[in-house]
Amino acid sequence: MISHHLPFVKTKANLFCEKYNSCFIFPFQVYYKNKGLRTRIYILEVCLYGRKKIYTLSNGVEIPGIGFGTWQAKDDAAVNCVKAALEAGYRHIDTATLYRNEGSVGQAIAECGLKREDVFITSKLWNSKRGYDKTMAAFETTLETMGLDYLDLYLIHWPATPHHFENWKEINLDTWKAITELYKAGRIRAIGVSNFLPHHLEPLMQTEVQPMIDQIEYHPGYLQQETVDYCQANGVVVEAWSPLGNGQVLNDAFLASIAEKYGKSVAQMRIRFAVQNGIIPLPKSVTPSRIASNLDVYDFQISDEDMKAIAAMPQTGFSGWNPDEVDF
Ligand code: A2P
Repeated sequence: MISHHLPFVKTKANLFCEKYNSCFIFPFQVYYKNKGLRTRIYILEVCLYGRKKIYTLSNGVEIPGIGFGTWQAKDDAAVNCVKAALEAGYRHIDTATLYRNEGSVGQAIAECGLKREDVFITSKLWNSKRGYDKTMAAFETTLETMGLDYLDLYLIHWPATPHHFENWKEINLDTWKAITELYKAGRIRAIGVSNFLPHHLEPLMQTEVQPMIDQIEYHPGYLQQETVDYCQANGVVVEAWSPLGNGQVLNDAFLASIAEKYGKSVAQMRIRFAVQNGIIPLPKSVTPSRIASNLDVYDFQISDEDMKAIAAMPQTGFSGWNPDEVDF
């Protein structure tokens, strides 16, 4: 029985959940007598079904379980949406050199009034900078552009693949060697990859420091289950880019009918779906009300039956970017 209809009340138990980084799954009711009045209190149960608000990576670093994506946000719009996200409670911001907004993200963080250590910041190495020397230089440029002296997470944005390079494995290993050195020197708190399929990940899993994150396209209608299974079996946390399918399938009638049952929006259903599957979604929006509502997914639980039905959706909203076939 799903208790999504029960009101969400901030209680000490909730604060406990937040402090200990666990997601409550459902509130249950306890009654007690207080000055003759029957008072109903909702206690939020701490459950550990992998649906955490904060994950601990394989090196012990903690990462907030929902991040804010910034792809396609530029200049002032990027500064403003990152500030709105931080205001709404996001503490995990995702950018990349490709997005051309590292400077704007850095500006928003500098001006938001939060301490640097309270925000988890990710950037990614662009494809033209693969290889040891170029990676080292690109990382310094990223830090300088962002006005930071360290990153929380640095990812290889896309793997080198046989589609473009005979020696693709060596290129990825060379890039990884540079990133590993930066990590060991304390310049980056955690390191990983993006858009790597299991066969791209495998050589890196044999190295001294294994990737802690793989950020892939993931949303109802495009689950990449083989990659998710590989990562989860090997201690690599999965992040979801475009958890909303880049906004394309928010009118989907099937998801709308499920969302209605829970009194939530389709966007919230999609984000919660990732959260319940132990994946970190990175929704993006430049609209403050959407930014806030996309984070408001911790007061309900999708039933197992509905999770299965959502997972069985036919392919919808796929970007078309298969890492082994893309032309960049
Ligand atoms: P906007 O930025 O104009 O608010 P994804 O994160 O999957 O790539 O999706 C991003 C797209 O989804 C953007 O076009 C964004 O539009 C839109 N979007 C983000 N949040 C919501 C929401 N809660 N409802 C509807 N559309 C949304």
